[in-house]
Amino acid sequence: MAEISSIVPPGCGPVPRHIAVIMDGNGRWARRRGLPRPAGHRAGVKVVRRIVEAVDQRGVAALTLFAFSSENWRRPRTEVNLLIELFINTLQQEVDRLHRNRVRIRFIGDPTPFGRRLRRLMQDAETLTQANEGLRLNIAVNYGGRWDMLQAARRLAACVAAGELKPEAIDERTLAGALSLGDLPEPDLFIRTGGEQRISNFLLWQLAYTELYFTEVLWPDFDEHCLDEALAWFAGRQRRFGQTGEQVERIKGA
Ligand code: FPP
Repeated sequence: MAEISSIVPPGCGPVPRHIAVIMDGNGRWARRRGLPRPAGHRAGVKVVRRIVEAVDQRGVAALTLFAFSSENWRRPRTEVNLLIELFINTLQQEVDRLHRNRVRIRFIGDPTPFGRRLRRLMQDAETLTQANEGLRLNIAVNYGGRWDMLQAARRLAACVAAGELKPEAIDERTLAGALSLGDLPEPDLFIRTGGEQRISNFLLWQLAYTELYFTEVLWPDFDEHCLDEALAWFAGRQRRFGQTGEQVERIKGA
C-alpha cells in the first residue's frame, strides 16, 4: 500500500490513482466488420498498447486489465487457444518496451492451468520490471474475484494454523492485504466497454467504493478520447464513502 498511497493523495482528486478495466466487445467489433472473432482480439491488443500509454501520460498510478477470466475457459477451445497464443505473442513483443517506459508488470490470477512457456514469460516479465517505479500494470489472467477472496482466506487460514495469526486479529485490513492487489489502493474508477453493465467476477472486494463507468463503445474502438471522457465523468463524481454530500463538501472546503 505504502508506495502509491504516499505519492498520490486519496482518490478524490480529478485523476484516479487506480483504474480497472473490463475490455469487452472484441467479438462484436469483428462481427460487425464481417471478420472472424480473432480479428477483434488482435485489434483489442493494439488498444491495450495505446491505453496503457495514455493512462500513464495522464498520471494514473495503477491500471488493472481483465484479460482472461476464470470463466473464459468455457469459450470454444479454438478461441481459448487463440487468446493464449495472442497473450504469449503480446508479452514477447511488448515487455521490453514497457520496461523501458518504467512500467511495473504484475499478473493476478491462478497461473497453474497455463503451459510452462506462458508461465515462464509472465514470471520473467514480473522479474524484469519489479524495480520499475512507473505505472503499475496488473494483468488479470485466469482471474476471478471469488477465487481471489478464496486464496486470501486460505492464506490467512494457513497463518492461523501456523500460530502466526489469531483469528480475532483478522479484520478488513488483513483480508484486503491478502488479496492479489493487497499492496495497491483499491480502484477509484472501473471502466467496462461493450455495453454490458456488470462486474463479471472481477475485483469483487476491491470495487466496493469504486466509481463504475459503463460505455457502449466496443473495446477495439476505445481510444484516448474515450478514456478522457471517462476521466471527465470521474472528475465530476462526488465520492462520499458513506458520508453525506454536505460532509464531503465541508471536508473539501477545509
Ligand atoms: C472480451 O470481448 C474480451 C476478452 C475475453 C479478451 C480480452 C483480451 C484482449 C483485449 C487482448 C489481450 C490482452 C492483453 C493484456 C495482452 P468478447 O470476446 O467477449 O467480445 P464480445 O462480447 O463482443 O463477444
